[in-house]
Amino acid sequence: MKPLPKKIVCIGAGYVGGPTMAVIADRCPAIEVTVVDLNAARIAAWNSAQLPVYEPGLDAVVQRARGRNLFFLGQTEGAKKLADADLIFISVNTPTKTEGEGAGKASDLRYVESCAQFIAEHARGHTIVVEKSTMPVRAADTIKRILAQNPHGGTFEVLSNPEFLAEGTAIRDLESPDRVLIGGERPEPIEVLASVYRQWVPAERIITTGLWSAELAKLAANAFLAQRVSSINALSALCEVTGAQVDEVARVVGSDSRIGPKFLKASVGFGGSCFKKDILSLVYLCEFHGVPEAAAYWQQVIDLNEWQKRRFADKIIRQLGAKKGKVAVLGLAFKKDTNDFRESAAIDICRQLLAAGLEVVTYDPQVDFAAFCQAAGIAKGMRPAHAIQEVLSGASAVAVLTEWDEFRSIDWAAVAPKLTPGTVIYDGRNVIDLQIIQKAGMQINSVGVQNIN
Ligand code: NAD
Ligand code: UGA
Repeated sequence: MKPLPKKIVCIGAGYVGGPTMAVIADRCPAIEVTVVDLNAARIAAWNSAQLPVYEPGLDAVVQRARGRNLFFLGQTEGAKKLADADLIFISVNTPTKTEGEGAGKASDLRYVESCAQFIAEHARGHTIVVEKSTMPVRAADTIKRILAQNPHGGTFEVLSNPEFLAEGTAIRDLESPDRVLIGGERPEPIEVLASVYRQWVPAERIITTGLWSAELAKLAANAFLAQRVSSINALSALCEVTGAQVDEVARVVGSDSRIGPKFLKASVGFGGSCFKKDILSLVYLCEFHGVPEAAAYWQQVIDLNEWQKRRFADKIIRQLGAKKGKVAVLGLAFKKDTNDFRESAAIDICRQLLAAGLEVVTYDPQVDFAAFCQAAGIAKGMRPAHAIQEVLSGASAVAVLTEWDEFRSIDWAAVAPKLTPGTVIYDGRNVIDLQIIQKAGMQINSVGVQNIN
């Protein structure tokens, strides 16, 4: 068996690059792992006590490895590390293009391309370049073309090793993944990367495929997950008018072992940095390759999600009507246990509530309010509260947008007198116990449950 690679560099110290490399370094103390980013503030944060990513378990992993065999460097220092790296991961953002061909759907590969250029300039000898970012199928062609123009006679292999971690459970997912996927064209480089993962992942969970299958499989996995959420959300609307309860329906559907129970939780709509952009990328690929029927099929997963968010905000706006008043928003993150609010349903819902002239006060235990407003393009009308009691005080409607555990244990009997009489709780996550609310003499409107008030 070949020895393990000695040096790994990862370009991109974001939600994926940072935690993934921290776990590799933790599990492979013999490998030097360097994470490089052009964002100096992010690198400084990775080197500080306040990591830039909130993820349960991350601090401990970083503490064990940082300074031992895990290093976070800026671009200039990092460039020097590329020369003798055995493996270089590209883990930069691949957002939706905003201009040019495919704008609004296709993936913007400019950050990936600039990484390939950076590698071509600084790598020496033979290097394995690993796509960790989510890419459109055949993106490796673009990377190979750029690398081939390197000025030093270097040689390269490109592998696709997409990441399946979910935020909030990143460390658990990385330490015990369902599968690790490695796509490549030749067995030797695949074996080098597989040898790293085999340090802690059982061999049978390491799936190897061709390069193009690996690239497409990542998009497909996200599309299937999002499709399940849109399917249950489509049913939630029917439940609300028929008296069927969406959680009961989901339990029955999910108990069929062919379907399985996960990802059947009705909600305000899925968010996060990837589902929407990855499905849009898939839609674009289908259109580009001449299969518009398949494009329309996947587009519907997104359209349904947009409708679910609008439908939720519309209910609140309809109830408050001309009375206006304060809406207490519980949760800005796109899911619990993360400070990430990219594409969070809260963005569209808060905007819609503000556009209807409502006062919006928000509480989230992890999300930075100013950063949220800036990203959402919200300049005024919204203000933060720093505790649950404060956000609820004087509210005319309550909107639960994230399923944070602390929202499950709110003492509604104690809170009730502080709310405006007639306040309705709109539970977009089904985390509030209906009976407790009814006992407290309050009204609740949960997603996928008929409103009996
Ligand atoms: P991110 O925005 O958190 O991080 C990307 C980092 O790359 C940023 O810090 C940015 O400064 C840096 N960067 C960009 N261009 C660079 C360059 N040329 N040189 C050096 N640094 C550069 O993104 P992320 O959430 O970590 O996602 C990265 C990729 O992983 C995306 O393709 C995404 O689709 C995929 N992915 C994300 C998740 C997730 O949960 N966030 C999960 C699986 C896959
Ligand atoms: C998702 C996938 O789960 C990961 O496998 C993938 O690696 C990642 O995208 C990516 O490529 O970025 P993530 O977006 O972090 O991970 O979080 P999820 O747990 O998938 O949740 C996504 C959204 O769907 C959240 O807004 C969540 O609240 C919502 N959701 C999820 C529901 O509304 N109902 C469910 O049953 C499950």
